[in-house]
Amino acid sequence: MDSLEARLRDTGQEHLIDALARLDGPARTRLEAQLNALDLPQVHRLVQQLVHAENALPYADLEPPDVINVPASTAELARDRQARAVGEDLLADDRVAAVLVAGGQGTRLGFDGPKGALPFGAVSGRTLFTHHAAKIDAIRTRYGCGVPWYVMTSPQNDEATRAIFAADDWFGLDPESVRIFVQGTMPAVDRVTGRILLEAPDHIALSPDGHGGLFPALRRHGVLDEMRERGITTMFTFQVDNPLARVARPEFLGHHAGAHAEMSSIVVRKRDPTEPVGIVARSRGTTVLVEYSDLPDEFAQARDTSGDLRFWAGSIAEHAIELSLAERVTEDRAGLPFRKAVKRVPYLDDRGVPVTPETPNAVKFESFIFDALPLARNVVSVEVVRGEEFSPIKNANGNDSPATARRDLNREYGRWLDAAGVTVPRDAAGDPTVDIEIDPRYALDADQLAERIPPGFLIDGPLFLDAARGNGGRTAPT
Ligand code: UD1
Repeated sequence: MDSLEARLRDTGQEHLIDALARLDGPARTRLEAQLNALDLPQVHRLVQQLVHAENALPYADLEPPDVINVPASTAELARDRQARAVGEDLLADDRVAAVLVAGGQGTRLGFDGPKGALPFGAVSGRTLFTHHAAKIDAIRTRYGCGVPWYVMTSPQNDEATRAIFAADDWFGLDPESVRIFVQGTMPAVDRVTGRILLEAPDHIALSPDGHGGLFPALRRHGVLDEMRERGITTMFTFQVDNPLARVARPEFLGHHAGAHAEMSSIVVRKRDPTEPVGIVARSRGTTVLVEYSDLPDEFAQARDTSGDLRFWAGSIAEHAIELSLAERVTEDRAGLPFRKAVKRVPYLDDRGVPVTPETPNAVKFESFIFDALPLARNVVSVEVVRGEEFSPIKNANGNDSPATARRDLNREYGRWLDAAGVTVPRDAAGDPTVDIEIDPRYALDADQLAERIPPGFLIDGPLFLDAARGNGGRTAPT
């Protein structure tokens, strides 16, 4: 193999030879080790494609996708019931794993820590991790199955995430049934020259490789082999920020399996043309997911003859992925395509002086899970009702914030309580006037709530129905 110096020269990163020359002893060894671990030809290729050239994505020929809509007719309801039975069998047969991508930080929320540790529960103050863990526990109990839980972290939050899981006693789950693994990183490069940035004299600037880093991370950490040995065939992947996520939704799994799909996605109707969600569409005979930041305005705004958005199928970033697809994607080094994100990254200049840029100066390379869709043999998109399954926490205030998530959970739990015959205090607009939380271990859905809630149950204040407390499900707020 060529020397590191030769490889740096061949890939346009000569400035790092100078950086090495400025160091000696352990500091030099550290930088050398970091550079040796890089796939320099890959970085070189990405710089050519994404920094020195504008690699426009071919979206001119987008068409709306085929979607299995929310069932309305008798036939559709029957089909949905059938799908549910298929999905429930998959769960009961231990063929499904839950995979959470949780590499992000709570920065956009002004929260210092892994996003999953954000306390959002209106009454209990529980965190997103606690809530998702309770769902997984409830699914295991309901279907008498294992559903292993895989949690992908990033180098930024891996340690903190592990500490939280351990401190919270794995949220009551068997620690053997939860596996945390860390995603990879990519170097950040100067947005004009393509040169890899130094964060410190002996350290280059690295950032997470995007949630598409899931695939190589699954292989690197032996998770694909582990799943194969356990008999898992299907992963349900979801994001940490949506408390309404119906993890491993059986109807969705059933539609996916029924169509022999290798990857499927859940969609909701977009709130408006500018909602920051990716859309599922068709392009040149394949299903693609176009990220909101890439969707040309003419497509985002386009309407059909009835005045509805033409590209309405907003992704809630929940997918069913066959193990076979994950294995294929990671078979060769090519993997998923990388995209560029232009960001502000502090760095050392050529003289080793620290610079804190005021405008975006760097390109980060990221890949996305949904870019596996065009590689899948069959794809299904399934629509769900937004209010029942999607209310992400992205911002500190306003749309998609903890406040809107709490409002939407109150509404959803309010509907469950209505259906169970419980009177819910409401304001003129029909919204519950008390905060309501239902632990998934108490009830995973409206039917289970109706079976479980004691007759004559009265709501006399904020309500937290908590299976663990053994007090008839009623907990006074603290
Ligand atoms: C994301 C989707 C968007 C979708 C919307 C639904 C992307 C790029 N966009 O937008 O299509 O409609 O959610 O809510 O996914 N993450 C990692 N590692 C990384 C980067 C991200 O694990 O390197 C995780 C984060 O922890 C988070 C998720 O991926 O759970 C989404 O990332 P984010 O950048 O917040 O995407 P959004 O803009 O919210």
